[in-house]
Amino acid sequence: MPQIPSPQITHICCIGAGYVGGPTSAIISQNCPSIKVTVVDTDAKRISAWNSPAALPIYEPGLEAIIRNQLNINLFFSTDIDKAIAESQLIFIAVNTPPLEIIDTDCSGRRRGAGADLSAVMECAQRIARVSTSSKIIVEKSTVPCGTSHEVGDILQKYARSGVQFQVLSNPEFLSEGTAVRDLQHPDRVIIGSALQTASEAQEHLKYIYKHWVPADRIITMSQWSAELTKLASNALLAQRVSSINSLSALCESLGADIKEVARGCGADSRIGGDFLRASLGFGGSCFHKDLSSLVWLCDSLRLTPVADYWHQVLLMNEFQTSRFAQRILSTINVRGARIACLGFAFKEGTGDARNTPATRVCRELLTAGARLSVYDPKVPADHILSMLTEEAVESTAANSARVDVGYNCVSVCSRALEAIEGAQAVVVLTAWPEFRCINWEQALQTMPALAHIFDGQAMLDHEYLQKLGFQVVSMGK
Ligand SMILES: NC(=O)c1ccc[n+]([C@@H]2O[C@H](COP(=O)([O-])OP(=O)(O)OC[C@H]3O[C@@H](n4cnc5c(N)ncnc54)[C@H](O)[C@@H]3O)[C@@H](O)[C@H]2O)c1
Repeated sequence: MPQIPSPQITHICCIGAGYVGGPTSAIISQNCPSIKVTVVDTDAKRISAWNSPAALPIYEPGLEAIIRNQLNINLFFSTDIDKAIAESQLIFIAVNTPPLEIIDTDCSGRRRGAGADLSAVMECAQRIARVSTSSKIIVEKSTVPCGTSHEVGDILQKYARSGVQFQVLSNPEFLSEGTAVRDLQHPDRVIIGSALQTASEAQEHLKYIYKHWVPADRIITMSQWSAELTKLASNALLAQRVSSINSLSALCESLGADIKEVARGCGADSRIGGDFLRASLGFGGSCFHKDLSSLVWLCDSLRLTPVADYWHQVLLMNEFQTSRFAQRILSTINVRGARIACLGFAFKEGTGDARNTPATRVCRELLTAGARLSVYDPKVPADHILSMLTEEAVESTAANSARVDVGYNCVSVCSRALEAIEGAQAVVVLTAWPEFRCINWEQALQTMPALAHIFDGQAMLDHEYLQKLGFQVVSMGK
């Protein structure tokens, strides 16, 4: 049995200062004042931003206050990865694990989905092994395909210095962007997976950290394989609910039913529950697509074609939903030469993350049809929006306001919703930011031409009120 530092953990580090590594480390440092937490990353710009609480590299409600309280007390951000590894008894790996290849949407049963690119995880494992002069616990926080912790263990063993041993635990993260602080502070569960034969000691050390704030009955231990699959399965089940309600929204539009009423009626059944039953443009972000395609890839690898087909359909339904919303706009109004206000760009409300956002697809379809877009999002930086909508390198002209011309198309990013709406022929709601409900729609209408349309891709506005004001309203699922 490897020698594990005892009796308590005093130094930990997290490799990867992203949407997971940053908030997770902040919550640990807040709840474990006797533990020094160092977050390291190869991206010096990102580390520098974490060291400036007024300009954090990510937006999460409540995070800034925690960083301000803990920074340089027991929470440190650094690019000195080797030093942090050397002094830590327990190391989280929270680096990115993007999909390896584009998903093939062919339904013929041929291989589709995508394995995850584990190069960053494996690079970390090698580095830890080369640098470490004492035994350590390595905690896999990144989302990875089943079996990765065994591979990480093999690499650690291969490159370890003599006498140094490692135990690998799988501790997948379930936080949701936009509510990360709440999710980490009050997790529904913490999963700790480990190889059964070496389970107990390393598990106890990780449990020791979590028990500072998580009730013991919410800490679930299991095998590494089960832990890794639980993460993929959880995201697949959530994505499946989104695709299920979205498929029904298409039916509602054809039947004349209202998806909000249907979702409410279904969600009232305690066996079903109301969460994740809101019709929308479809899911986005860095996780659902990637984890579903990883699951599909895994099923195909194991020749479980009907199972792969089943989960693949969740992805296809998601693409159908986004695309049919864009088509609905195009079949309702002539957008060529028209200015369209796009409200929201983040993949969901509460975050500035626009990775894989359905907004890109809708915006691109509108641009291709000849529209000019004025985009407003409260948190996504202007240069991110522009770079995602154009192939050109662009520079932001002001803090949150920029303009770029793409041939006959035009995209401008505005710093207020009313600024984006002024003079637009139609408004398209792309992200469910609550502030869109509070827009002064009466004032907005006065700045728009006659026959102003609102396309509510998030089914979130008060449609009756908007219609009374004089808007033509087209909503998802209605
Ligand atoms: N974002 C989420 O909501 C979420 C939720 C649960 C799980 N996850 C999983 O957690 C992992 C991290 O996701 P994220 O959103 O935080 O990613 P991210 O892209 O925001 O951050 C990853 C960070 O790792 C750094 N990095 C990459 N390779 C490195 C290396 N070799 N050494 C040091 N640093 C390195 C990058 O510079 C980057 O800052 C992924 O596997 C993801 O699937 C993400």
